[in-house]
Amino acid sequence: MVKSLIIGFLLLGSLQSFGQNGPETAAPVTGVFSDATIFRYLLFGIITLELITIFALVYWIRFFTGIEDLQREKDVERKTKLKDASSWWSRINKLKPMEEEAALDVGHSYDGIKELDNVTPPWFTIAFIASIIFGIGYLWHYHVSKAGANQYEEYEIAVTKANLEKEAYLKLKGDAVNENTVVMLDAAGIEAGRALFTSNCAACHGKDGQGGVGPNLTDDYWLHGGSIGDVFKTIRLGVVEKGMMSWKDVFSAEQIAQLASYIKSTHGSKPAGAKEPQGELYKETPKTNNVDPAKTDSAQTAKL
Ligand code: HEC
Repeated sequence: MVKSLIIGFLLLGSLQSFGQNGPETAAPVTGVFSDATIFRYLLFGIITLELITIFALVYWIRFFTGIEDLQREKDVERKTKLKDASSWWSRINKLKPMEEEAALDVGHSYDGIKELDNVTPPWFTIAFIASIIFGIGYLWHYHVSKAGANQYEEYEIAVTKANLEKEAYLKLKGDAVNENTVVMLDAAGIEAGRALFTSNCAACHGKDGQGGVGPNLTDDYWLHGGSIGDVFKTIRLGVVEKGMMSWKDVFSAEQIAQLASYIKSTHGSKPAGAKEPQGELYKETPKTNNVDPAKTDSAQTAKL
């Protein structure tokens, strides 16, 4: 203790002298041997000496009056006690040694099991107080200052975020279109549809949609409806029992719209080897369709 105090004082002294030296070093006359500096060192030297003397005197007084011995004994006692309590385990539980058991006995005995009046373990008390402090902080944060979102607000935030993500995802996948909203695409869309058709559908519908295993897709007769929405739906869901698979897991809605647009664009193209009509006659009516019948050929739809 004495040592650390002296060191502390010395440090403080040196810090101060540094602090004061700062501005002075800029001045021309000062230096290590200038009067002011020597005087300052002298002053600190004297103060340090005085402090040492004071501490030495205190120590001597304690020594001669026997206080020092008493203190030492106490220290030793405390250390052995700590050792007896043996470990941190005993300390955090404030366990009493077995010899003190008699003093703790409250006199209740159940089948030879005695009830002892032990104190509440410190770890429990600390945890208890900590939980109260935490509770106050929690209450303040969520219910008084309303700085944090409670579970309902958190839910709302999560839902909003999920909706935004879903929207972005649908946009990316082009799933924003369905059979009710699909419209005839422009030339680029139809061209994309043609490419998809050639590699995926031509095997059954012919490379120009003239028909094969599947029906002719260029005539006025349709098994499942001839509007672009109907075509879209047929491609999406398929007619599985008749050999036309569902393409919804293969293509995005955007791609299905391109296919439907391409098929609609081939209407009336009368390709070579066209299969005989199947299904019902379908007449385009502007009311149920987004496309004017006169404009269904590819050249004109490009303008849409
Ligand atoms: C394995 C053969 C096969 C493939 C491949 C195939 N289809 Fe079909 N498709 C059929 C058959 C068979 C039908 C007739 C279903 C019925 O009888 O109801 C059909 C019906 C259709 C219809 C409805 C025609 C109508 O008259 O209503 C459309 C539209 C269609 N297919 C589009 C496509 C598109 C687009 C593709 C490529 C993505 C495709 N098909 C791939 C066999 C196929």
